[in-house]
Amino acid sequence: MESHLQLHVVMLPWFAFGHMISFFLLSVALAKAGIRVSFISTRKNIQRLPRVPSNLEHLLKFVEFQLPVVDGLPEGAEATIDIAMDQIQYLKVSYDRLSEQFKNFISNEAPQNARSERIFVGAFGQNASGFTDAERLALVVGGCEAVAVRSCRELEGKYLDLLEKVYRKPVIPIGLLPPAPPPHGKRENTGGDEDKIFKWLDGQKVKSVMFAAFGSEVKLSKDQVHEIAHGLELSKLPFLWTLRKPTWALNDDDESILSPGFLSRTASVGMVHMVWAPQWEILTHPSIGGFLCHCGWGSIVENLQHGHVFVVLPLILDQGLNARFLVEKGLAIEVERNLSDGSFKGEDVAKALRKGMVEKEGESIRVRANEMKSMLVKDDYYIDAFVGYLKKDLVVKKDISPP
Ligand SMILES: *[C@@H]1O[C@H](CO)[C@@H](O)[C@H](O)[C@H]1NC(C)=O
Ligand SMILES: *[C@@H]1O[C@H](CO)[C@@H](O)[C@H](O)[C@H]1NC(C)=O
Repeated sequence: MESHLQLHVVMLPWFAFGHMISFFLLSVALAKAGIRVSFISTRKNIQRLPRVPSNLEHLLKFVEFQLPVVDGLPEGAEATIDIAMDQIQYLKVSYDRLSEQFKNFISNEAPQNARSERIFVGAFGQNASGFTDAERLALVVGGCEAVAVRSCRELEGKYLDLLEKVYRKPVIPIGLLPPAPPPHGKRENTGGDEDKIFKWLDGQKVKSVMFAAFGSEVKLSKDQVHEIAHGLELSKLPFLWTLRKPTWALNDDDESILSPGFLSRTASVGMVHMVWAPQWEILTHPSIGGFLCHCGWGSIVENLQHGHVFVVLPLILDQGLNARFLVEKGLAIEVERNLSDGSFKGEDVAKALRKGMVEKEGESIRVRANEMKSMLVKDDYYIDAFVGYLKKDLVVKKDISPP
């Protein structure tokens, strides 16, 4: 009987691109497995997400919700990258107020006999400012029948087991969900600004370039930008740095953001790119050898699949834990910093970069990072197992009402 079940998966990821991209990749994987997926977001967010592959358009559909207006949320802001850290609370309130639209969507979509009460809307609070993120997570996990994790047993087997004990419900790894490779195996010029990056990378030696990127969410302070710049320069390594223009610098030219003279002094070894850049494709380039990053999970799983050594400089949220995990696995070198205020110095950035890329001390880490890459090849296996779970264990179980 299960084989005739028509599953319909509805996604409503939090309005941060790290979240939306992960859910998008999962949506694509599920659609490939023949499952119908509705991906809910706002108009502007949907426009900024990748296109649905044309052969999956009949299964994977974007659904546009109207973002509720909330005092304090700047007009036109629909994702965390659009706002400052202290405005995120308003975006959460707005997200929570989607609950009515969400319930309507579900009741319109659900066939007569479907058990719509099985759909838990624990992520919605009536009053977002009343929840801490930890309380919110506890509520959501508490209301779920199972938790799917973007990970795999080769990487985190013992932690997945532990999580299952802590949550007391199935914890299902869904693999690392790599983005699709370019259709013809080779990147083609897009005519965009980022073509310059690849032209430059083509001229570098194999595995010689340190790629520095801190994701779209992290808002680096002026001091942090200057110390990173100083570190890259001191390391004397070839580098590519993709840096989203910080909000304190929107009207400044590149030279004054990065500290005077930096660009001309490093022009022969490095490249700084201050508009959007395709991180996955950059990591794919053979000239890249290391990744200086903030340890957002999306960046980690992308880099793991390319086998580059990590140099880690965690900045917000779960990044500190992620960084320690990579160090414990022998895959990363962490930049030393002042433990009382978290600040870091260019000298220490340079030290970690050189250790990661060229010094003997970092050799075992480079080897391990490369070995890890060859261990991570079974994403289809994880998606198949997850789909099997959705079709069997989840659907045939009796109703469970939300708390
Ligand atoms: C929301 O929660 C905050 C913090 O607990 C509280 O001060 C505020 O009164 C609440 N607002 C509403 C509308 O319940
Ligand atoms: C670390 O930071 C604290 C607080 O800002 C400062 O007082 C201290 O001198 C710093 N330590 C070092 C070694 O820079």
